[in-house]
Amino acid sequence: MRASVTKGLGQGFVVEDIDLADPVGHEVRVEVRASGLCHSDLSVATFIGGEFPVVLGHEVAGVVTGTGPQVTQVKEGDHVVGSLIQYCGTCVNCLSGRTHICRHPEATLRTPEQPPRLSWNGAPVAQGMGLGGFAQEALIHENQLAVIPREMPWAPAALIGCGVLTGAGAVLNSANVRQGETVVVIGAGGVGMNAVSGARIAGAGTIIVTDIEDAKLERAKAFGATHVVNSRSADPVEAVRDITGDGADHVFDFVGIRSVTAQGMRMLGKGGGLYLIGIGGNDAGIDVSAISALTNSQKVQGVYMGSSHLKRDIPFYASMYLQGLMNLDDLVSREIGLADIEKGYESLKDGTTARVVITDFS
Ligand SMILES: NC(=O)c1ccc[n+]([C@@H]2O[C@H](COP(=O)([O-])OP(=O)(O)OC[C@H]3O[C@@H](n4cnc5c(N)ncnc54)[C@H](O)[C@@H]3O)[C@@H](O)[C@H]2O)c1
Ligand SMILES: [Zn+2]
Ligand SMILES: [Zn+2]
Repeated sequence: MRASVTKGLGQGFVVEDIDLADPVGHEVRVEVRASGLCHSDLSVATFIGGEFPVVLGHEVAGVVTGTGPQVTQVKEGDHVVGSLIQYCGTCVNCLSGRTHICRHPEATLRTPEQPPRLSWNGAPVAQGMGLGGFAQEALIHENQLAVIPREMPWAPAALIGCGVLTGAGAVLNSANVRQGETVVVIGAGGVGMNAVSGARIAGAGTIIVTDIEDAKLERAKAFGATHVVNSRSADPVEAVRDITGDGADHVFDFVGIRSVTAQGMRMLGKGGGLYLIGIGGNDAGIDVSAISALTNSQKVQGVYMGSSHLKRDIPFYASMYLQGLMNLDDLVSREIGLADIEKGYESLKDGTTARVVITDFS
């Protein structure tokens, strides 16, 4: 099958003919119909590194074409979306519904003694995050897949697996935003927009979005922002305090730059929560004054993958989309072919492009 292979750090994405093993155990073979280009795959390919050669791509949607003998949760012909959340289903965190912090995510992968899922000229090829969506087909553990309705179009479906789970989940699961509350979203990128959608679903009364680019703030209005603030031309803390009167109930930081995170803390009202999602640099973080935090009953929480349970949340967001309650169409800026990943990442540098999705695998 054709797959886009990253052969080493900085060596880009090259389409090759590689081999996919037959499904064993809980594995599912998926014919990939859409695969989103998320920034973190580019980071792995350009500076983070890991195992090479590797097939990256972790926003995957497709059709089930084969199942291992132990698969019970999906069947051939099902339309599925994959997620990088890997969970065993039997550890105490999984059993208490917190699969995003599973203690044994490796249970979804083959052991080193087993033949690899992917190989090229007889040598193993690594599979990014247990998914490897930059390919015509993928072999994925059934715990990493959720079934979606057949009416769901492929390109927006693929985005649910990472950006939507993260952004909307931060609001709905991690912060448990309630109707009428005030929400601030710092960073109007592809993930932040899903936090705006999540805030609308939760019934937030005020949704303030801050960014440094007017085009992104304009787009944020199409997702449901009630107020936008350009933090280059106005002090965002003052602006939030003016709009809310006494500070926000929830602030979501999708930027992760120290000075920006500190501003987020100062936007909080009494009893407010600051949620850390973005990582803008190696020094991302915050100093918290214990006196101020305790007298105002405020909290700071790190958020991984929107505290999501993929089996519950992926079909939920697909349903919200199909009911017209979640804007995913404006996130799909361009559809490309499997051979055009590098050009696709290049086009993400343009401020008006939200997400690029591979939909042509021929
Ligand atoms: N915690 C998790 O589990 C998780 C999962 C997925 C992604 N992420 C992270 O979420 C973050 C957002 O992802 P994305 O795809 O939306 O990125 P993005 O680059 O599309 O969006 C970031 C936005 O922040 C804006 N920005 C930059 N500096 C700013 C400033 N000083 N003030 C306000 N806005 C500013 C940019 O203009 C941009 O619109 C990334 O850091 C990503 O790594 C975290
Ligand atoms: Zn991602
Ligand atoms: Zn577990």
